[in-house]
Amino acid sequence: PTFAGLEMGTESFSADIAEALGKVEDLILSELTSGDDLLTPAVTHLAKAGGKRFRPLFAVLSAHFGPDPYSDDVITAAAVVELIHLATLYHDDVMDEATMRRGAQSANARWGNSVAILAGDFLFSRASRLVSTLGPESVRIVAETLAALVTGQMRETVGAGAEQDPVDHYLRTVWEKTGSLIAASGRFGSRASGAGADDVDRLSRIGDAVGVAFQVSDDIIDISSASGESGKTPGTDLREGVHTLPVLYALRDEGSEATRLRELLVAEDGSPRALGEDDAAVAEALALLTESEGLAMTRKTLQTYADRATDELAGLPEGPAHTAMSSLVRYTIERIG
Ligand code: FPP
Ligand code: MG
Ligand code: MG
Repeated sequence: PTFAGLEMGTESFSADIAEALGKVEDLILSELTSGDDLLTPAVTHLAKAGGKRFRPLFAVLSAHFGPDPYSDDVITAAAVVELIHLATLYHDDVMDEATMRRGAQSANARWGNSVAILAGDFLFSRASRLVSTLGPESVRIVAETLAALVTGQMRETVGAGAEQDPVDHYLRTVWEKTGSLIAASGRFGSRASGAGADDVDRLSRIGDAVGVAFQVSDDIIDISSASGESGKTPGTDLREGVHTLPVLYALRDEGSEATRLRELLVAEDGSPRALGEDDAAVAEALALLTESEGLAMTRKTLQTYADRATDELAGLPEGPAHTAMSSLVRYTIERIG
């Protein structure tokens, strides 16, 4: 039995997870439509546009390592992390001046920056209201997580300093922007079902590692997804001037390939150069990167994070949730093809 492409152990477990995620969806939408009607179109826009609901899934799976996985608190916890995620996407699209999100027009493109920022704020306010029902420790965890998200976004915005290793800067930013909220999802889900402190910490560490692994695998897909199987167009990051991990590793190399990559991808002042519509440059950079040591090192980094998650998972009890979590960790490796 599978759910969202994951191996689930048993048919009934798969159905339980689907049912829980259905409740999470209902709660998210009822929270988002519980304010003034004038808010509804903008604040429900991203939730309705789709998305993998990866964080709620991680929270609900984590809950199955505690004694009370069917408690209402688990649904609340899962809705909170998705609302926070969606809120950050509204703000991220403003900062990135993105026009599309999840195959739909971004909120900022459709209604302008003011509405998009306010919509994100409304999602934060609903997440805050919901999390208050889980008690002060949960409120504290959310506060710390938001601080990490903001710090990561700030770190990305400011960029690596001259004396800082760009790879370290990257990995730290990714942990703050992505790992922290997935870690919080594991922590929240397991706490809400009454799991013991050691298991809660373990699920949080698994969330850290899976979050970073996911981002690193995305970076690899942007370079090597020739098949288009992932639904993504290779080279998007290069066109946008985003230096992903394979690029950062490759630019550290010596040799003629690295020199050529620097010419293509780095501007005079050392900042990333966006290749935009320059298809020839994109093709050349992709070819150089595909053969590069940088890509090989990125694969190794991905494996390191996946192994870290697997090692932590080994300390948790066997069962359908364990099967599903292992499948999820494997997926971060297998999705790169
Ligand atoms: C997407 O990154 C963005 C994030 C994962 C987090 C962004 C965090 C913030 C905007 C902080 C806001 C928080 C508060 C409390 C105001 P991306 O742009 O790399 O990815 P994308 O391709 O999905 O746009
Ligand atoms: Mg963005
Ligand atoms: Mg961004």
